[in-house]
Amino acid sequence: MVEKKVDKRKVKEVKSKAKTKKVKEDKEVVETGDEDVKEEEVIEGRDEGDGGDEGDEGVEGAESVEEGDGAEEGAEEDVVMQLSDLPGVGPAAVEKLEAAGIFDLMGVAVMSPKGLGDAAGMGESAARKAIQAARQMMDLGFQDGLEFAEKRKEIFNITTGSKELDGLLGGKGIETKAITEAFGAYGSGKTQLGLSLAVNTQLPLEQGGAEGKAVYIDTEGTFRPDRVKEIAEGKGLNADGVLKNILVARAFNSDHQILLIDKVGELVKNGEPIRMVIIDSLTAHFRAEFSGRGQLADRQQKLNRYLHNLMKMGEQFNLAIYVTNQVMANPAMMFGDPTTAIGGNIVGHASTYRMYIRRGKKGSRVAKLIDSPNLPDNECLFFITEKGVVDEE
Ligand code: GTP
Ligand code: MG
Repeated sequence: MVEKKVDKRKVKEVKSKAKTKKVKEDKEVVETGDEDVKEEEVIEGRDEGDGGDEGDEGVEGAESVEEGDGAEEGAEEDVVMQLSDLPGVGPAAVEKLEAAGIFDLMGVAVMSPKGLGDAAGMGESAARKAIQAARQMMDLGFQDGLEFAEKRKEIFNITTGSKELDGLLGGKGIETKAITEAFGAYGSGKTQLGLSLAVNTQLPLEQGGAEGKAVYIDTEGTFRPDRVKEIAEGKGLNADGVLKNILVARAFNSDHQILLIDKVGELVKNGEPIRMVIIDSLTAHFRAEFSGRGQLADRQQKLNRYLHNLMKMGEQFNLAIYVTNQVMANPAMMFGDPTTAIGGNIVGHASTYRMYIRRGKKGSRVAKLIDSPNLPDNECLFFITEKGVVDEE
């Protein structure tokens, strides 16, 4: 994932430059997500039931707007540039580009003038200027190691409650500026981990928390205030205080789920000290709404875009993002656990940390890390108790 943050002054400068500058011809490098789609199409026919019961128990959108403690950081200079910031790219062009699967500056920066012209319905020379502007705004190229290290320094972690599980994820739990995905069967503990994280986010720093609030986007009606209270009390916290610091929204469909991400951005900008965003489940709505065979490509495109925006939000506001995902049967797998995550590689590529959770012996849970860029594919055991996720029963 490439940094897309730019400083406002620079953008203005670039915009005006782009108007006058001539640009050389560019090579055509346009990516498509086709592989992912094909791969999943094969297995889609043998979906397991997903047990995604649409519980109606709505949860109030608890949007207590309190005085936040200095969470405005970054709101000013961390402006994330969008397609509409490019010269010559109006709302109609943005719409066309998005329909073509191009959602951000990176998408434009790697296009040819002709490709962009065709996709956005604009002239080639205007397209050339837009591409040039995208490249400049994005700061394509290098940052020195020190700058990179500075950026990494902002990152912090929130404990899962289990040292084992924290260790699996690199030592200290769920990381900010990253997406951590848990996938697994019905009842494997994905939601329980989410509820535990919503509580742990509020713990003091020295206990592995972030002294902040959590956002819980509930797509299945499985958020349980009573369970949160129990977990909070198990950790010696004030149960009502903890509940108040979890901003819950029930997402009724995938569009609503997508919209809620913008809302999170607004809350952070308004000073809410949000440190963690939980999406339970990431994929259930997408899966239900795009269930036809012919709809798979559309679903993947929409999901891809959503994940993209999620990651951007995580990077912009330094948030930890935890998402849950269901599984389906994978007939291609003859041995071992024959399950595969919904959303296929689209979700897999977008998740920085991806773990598979299943029930283990004697009430334990087994988490297995999969394809992490910087960590070994290890396994660990944890338990779910009245205190939430812990190491030992
Ligand atoms: P789906 O959303 O259906 O895909 O499943 P999930 O992975 O989200 O499962 P969830 O996290 O809801 O796990 C449910 C399981 O957690 C239950 O079957 C119990 O084993 C365990 N569990 C839930 N609440 C408690 C509790 O209060 N105490 C203990 N000890 N275990 C609990
Ligand atoms: Mg669940």
